[in-house]
Amino acid sequence: MLPRLLSPLALLPLASALWPAPREISSGNTTLFIDKSIKITYGGKPLHYVPGYTPAAGPKCDDTEVIKGGVSRALGAIFDNNFVPWMLRPKGSTFEPDASEEKHLVKTLKISHSDKSNSGCYKPVADEVDESYAFKLGEDGHASIDAKTAIGVLRGLETFLQLFYEHTDGHHWYTTIAPVEIKDAPLFPYRGVLLDTARIFFSVKDIERTIDAISWNKMNRFHWHITDSQSWPLDIPALPELSAKGAYHPALTYSPEDVAHIHEFAAHRGVEVIMEVDMPGHIGSVQFAFPELIVAYNEIPFHWWCSEPPCGAFKLNEPAVDEFLETMFDDLLPRLSPYTSYFHTGGDELNRNDSMLDDGVGSNDTEVLRPLLQKFIDVNHDRVRKAGLVPVVWEELALEWDLDLGSDVIVQSWLGGKAIKTLTGKGHKVIVSDYNYYYLPCGRGQWMDYDNGEAFKKFYPFVDWCSPAKSWKLIYAYDPVAGLTEEEASKVLGGEVAVWTERIDATNLDGLLWPRASAMGEILWSGRYDEVGRNRSQYEVTPRLADLRERMLARGLAAEPVQMTFCTQGDDPLECARIV
Ligand SMILES: *[C@@H]1O[C@H](CO)[C@@H](O)[C@H](O)[C@H]1NC(C)=O
Ligand SMILES: *[C@@H]1O[C@H](CO)[C@@H](O)[C@H](O)[C@H]1NC(C)=O
Ligand SMILES: *[C@@H]1O[C@H](CO)[C@@H](O)[C@H](O)[C@H]1NC(C)=O
Ligand SMILES: *[C@@H]1O[C@H](CO)[C@@H](O)[C@H](O)[C@H]1NC(C)=O
Repeated sequence: MLPRLLSPLALLPLASALWPAPREISSGNTTLFIDKSIKITYGGKPLHYVPGYTPAAGPKCDDTEVIKGGVSRALGAIFDNNFVPWMLRPKGSTFEPDASEEKHLVKTLKISHSDKSNSGCYKPVADEVDESYAFKLGEDGHASIDAKTAIGVLRGLETFLQLFYEHTDGHHWYTTIAPVEIKDAPLFPYRGVLLDTARIFFSVKDIERTIDAISWNKMNRFHWHITDSQSWPLDIPALPELSAKGAYHPALTYSPEDVAHIHEFAAHRGVEVIMEVDMPGHIGSVQFAFPELIVAYNEIPFHWWCSEPPCGAFKLNEPAVDEFLETMFDDLLPRLSPYTSYFHTGGDELNRNDSMLDDGVGSNDTEVLRPLLQKFIDVNHDRVRKAGLVPVVWEELALEWDLDLGSDVIVQSWLGGKAIKTLTGKGHKVIVSDYNYYYLPCGRGQWMDYDNGEAFKKFYPFVDWCSPAKSWKLIYAYDPVAGLTEEEASKVLGGEVAVWTERIDATNLDGLLWPRASAMGEILWSGRYDEVGRNRSQYEVTPRLADLRERMLARGLAAEPVQMTFCTQGDDPLECARIV
């Protein structure tokens, strides 16, 4: 084991501010400057820094392209999107090295990875891609990133760029903690963000920005909840009326080119996209084009039929639904399978009453519905499998409906309580999205309207169902494998924060997501405990998160503040501490 940086006496903000904390790190106190004369090599050959390099498009994953893009973003973040950390240093202090003196430079960065198979970029299965890397920066100015895969190199580049700050003079960049030696790898293979683009539409640019931020945090999954009962923004060329009628506006759709671009953009950042078409509930928007396939759309009062208007579920005993899904999957899945290993078929919150309105069923009896649902899932999961993808579902199918899911199916758990233990106990691989910790829209009040009558009185002061808000501290304090046996914990692939978008659009997305998602990101990468098995202290975590926030801001993301400047400028962690 390498010596750890963060001994209890080294909590001052001038120590390494890396986020997520590397698993093993040692560092010194030598200042090195960096400028664009740095010589970069990849696999022994020179790699020239091309600002804003965009890798060639196409469903071909080439390690050299991945690394050229990664180097371009890293150096861009150092030279063009960096920040002067005055807000993180004591007021009035001379925290910067003297740029007029003789400077020692970072002269070289040697990049290499041992696996040359080009296999890590597209279609990574959890646990299959090695994201580990080793990083060194010597006092002599020679740096290196050694990884197994190109994705591991990308993680190492994110670490590298976090070492450097901009000087107040605007044309020098430096680190104060050379020499640095790091060995790093994630604890959990699945570290994701869910974005709902059906309740409110998001542009491709918004999605790109979110995927960028995911990669800055060394997270690796983008769960694209693309359709729901409110709108259908996904173009399916074989069923053109779906989005033509189901989108909020004909212009607010994702074309096949958009879908391919988003997958490629993500893959080049070591992020895999998992698209979800939620069914058989949460699919009411299909009725705009195919009303004969849907029951319970816009039924009132909605809460007898679904958990949020406008409701709408597939008929569960209707051959036309099956024909529709065959056409849809035949169109969609072959376009996704070059890029990803997963497809999410949803399955949450199916209200039994919906099938009472279904002529082919006419019952809300579980015993009647379960076999129909089982068949629905079997047929559609076989379609997913035939396309070479692993099905992912929400937990209700396994727990509430007790369906027989294949052992390959990954279950996403959101309802909290004992669900994770039960699911992993049954042998399922699980993605943790417990709403008590990982649901980011919570605690901002109800979005529904209440007239001045009974409902107004009943729901005043209009608290939402999953209030209170999940602060980064709460998210950070949550251990997704708490209370599990080792066997059960080994089935937890990781976690995903969820952004359901009743009241979130491009204006508040960044601040709602970041840096709270970063908190989960560190827990899943670095673990909850420090080197001696203690919970990491907020005294140590907060300054690093504040640093990351400033860096995300400088890189173009409207991430929320972690603390007021008074606290971030404090050199004594006790200044903003609450002591009982
Ligand atoms: C740097 O670290 C060395 C070794 O720990 C120590 O002796 C020296 O005083 C430190 N220098 C500064 C400027 O803090
Ligand atoms: C189904 O509808 C009945 C009213 O007909 C209602 O009392 C019941 O709560 C509904 N069930 C669910 C699960 O919403
Ligand atoms: C099933 O429907 C009946 C009749 O509307 C209703 O009373 C009952 O609450 C429903 N059951 C469930 C589980 O929703
Ligand atoms: C870490 O904090 C959690 C509460 O978030 C607590 O349950 C647990 O006992 C703590 N563990 C240690 C080792 O202090």
